[in-house]
Amino acid sequence: ATPAEERDLVIIGGGVAGYVAAIKAGQEGLKVACIEKRGSLGGTCLNVGCIPSKSLLNNSHLYHQILHDSKHRGIEVGDVKLNLKQMMSAKETSVNGLTKGIEFLFKKNNVEYIKGTGAFADEHTIAVNLVDGGETSVRGKNIFIATGSESTPFPGLTIDEKKVITSTGAIALDKVPKKMIVIGGGIIGLEMASVWSRLGADVTIVEFLGQIGGPGMDAEIAKNTQKIFAKQGMKFKLNTKVAGGDDSGDLVKLNLEAAKGGKEETVEADVVLVAIGRRAYTSGLGLENIGLETDDRGRLVIDSEYRTKIPHIRVIGDCTFGPMLAHKAEEEAVAAVEFLTKNYGHVNYNAIPSVMYTHPEVAWVGQNEAELKEAGVKYKVGSFPFSANSRAKTNLDTEGMVKFLADAETDRILGVHIIGPNAGEMIAEGTLALEYGASTEDVGRTSHAHPTLAEAFKEAAMATYGKAIHY
Ligand code: FAD
Ligand code: NAI
Repeated sequence: ATPAEERDLVIIGGGVAGYVAAIKAGQEGLKVACIEKRGSLGGTCLNVGCIPSKSLLNNSHLYHQILHDSKHRGIEVGDVKLNLKQMMSAKETSVNGLTKGIEFLFKKNNVEYIKGTGAFADEHTIAVNLVDGGETSVRGKNIFIATGSESTPFPGLTIDEKKVITSTGAIALDKVPKKMIVIGGGIIGLEMASVWSRLGADVTIVEFLGQIGGPGMDAEIAKNTQKIFAKQGMKFKLNTKVAGGDDSGDLVKLNLEAAKGGKEETVEADVVLVAIGRRAYTSGLGLENIGLETDDRGRLVIDSEYRTKIPHIRVIGDCTFGPMLAHKAEEEAVAAVEFLTKNYGHVNYNAIPSVMYTHPEVAWVGQNEAELKEAGVKYKVGSFPFSANSRAKTNLDTEGMVKFLADAETDRILGVHIIGPNAGEMIAEGTLALEYGASTEDVGRTSHAHPTLAEAFKEAAMATYGKAIHY
């Protein structure tokens, strides 16, 4: 299409929110263009987030398992050596395969891919600074903003992605740090701490709150997780605030302060990972040219149909409300396009799963105990440990549990919380159960193949409305 020709839909940002919306719009027969500035599709998730981090988590787990968890299984290996360069290159192979795959899907679905940085010139026109030089402009009847998020900086520390790093540096270090301090015990902090601790770094996690896991993780599960990670060698300083830092020398110094009482201490490390959360990213988008404003956390404000106060401009993914998760962005992308083409779209925000891809994995969906207590909901609890599950015992991988929270009167499932092997796959069953308004008895009376880890899921449900058989 020529610049002057109006597209049905122009999308700014080619991350999970933007690229999924583009493909969906193409499938619905809309004339659609997607503008992305990084020179590669898939956004944070495919390029520097979900995918590269999971590649490193998987391969560092294999390495660690071969070193520490193979002899008693009857597997004796010779010299085991880490080839970090090759591990990084395996990661690149996965990332490149997936990002190129999206370019292919764009072609297949007639999506126009514009490589450049977009900014609003007016309510229907996006001025684009092209990656390869030069400028163009694109007109859209409808516009989606899907510009994502960035890591929140830590005041007083300068990110150089070598000594003081964000997750982007943490997936690309060229040597294993001797000592690493992680500021923030949320999902990024714990996933990256797992990777580098398995590869040999001495890792300490400093968390402001009294619990690890970031927002949403059930307190009982978080406690269990911390115990298991401590056994793996990670160190924790909870209820501790990083009050300031000095990154001028070879080692980075951090001043720690007890959250209560104010006791102070100075610690040093060769690498400090800042993982205190992410914030919506809308810089340079020219919002001032069309009078759109963000809230106090930088998020674009929308209604229940993803519309800004300018109705033909919608916002999806990390740069607006809700959890910053790829699959949440994907659901919103489909719903927002359906609002355009069918006047109806829907996302059930109560049934968006969360997964932390450590070992064991931690996964949950729905509400946790603290949230139910705060809402004054009467609930019952049922759980089942993997130590009583036949498959987990066969695999010699028995740490963790499945826990159900259900309405005390109706037995309707309100939340599912899992720590254990394969929790990230297992939570899909909990999400489906929640989506369909199932009771724990519905799950407990459903046949689950034997011997599978999923039987722990069934038995935890049985323990909620009655009794488990094997515990
Ligand atoms: P983004 O993926 O950030 O995409 C936005 C895109 O817009 C970017 O590519 C950016 O270059 C582009 N852009 C911005 N401004 C402009 C402009 N003006 N013009 C053109 N282009 C522009 N989520 C999960 O669900 N599972 C995980 O395992 C997981 N792991 C993660 C690990 C890490 C280390 C990190 C950092 C995040 C992880 N996430 C994970 C979160 C996930 O990456 C995000 O929720 C997801 O990427 C959000 O998608 P998005 O499209 O809204 O934003
Ligand atoms: P987070 O919000 O999960 O955790 C940040 C933690 O840092 C919180 O526990 C907070 O209390 C703590 N903190 C804040 N300031 C601090 C300070 N000064 N000192 C000590 N601790 C402090 O954020 P995180 O881990 O950075 O992740 C960002 C986003 O990326 C999350 O929203 C998450 O959803 C997404 N993500 C998802 C993944 C997944 O789904 N597997 C993996 C990685 C990221």
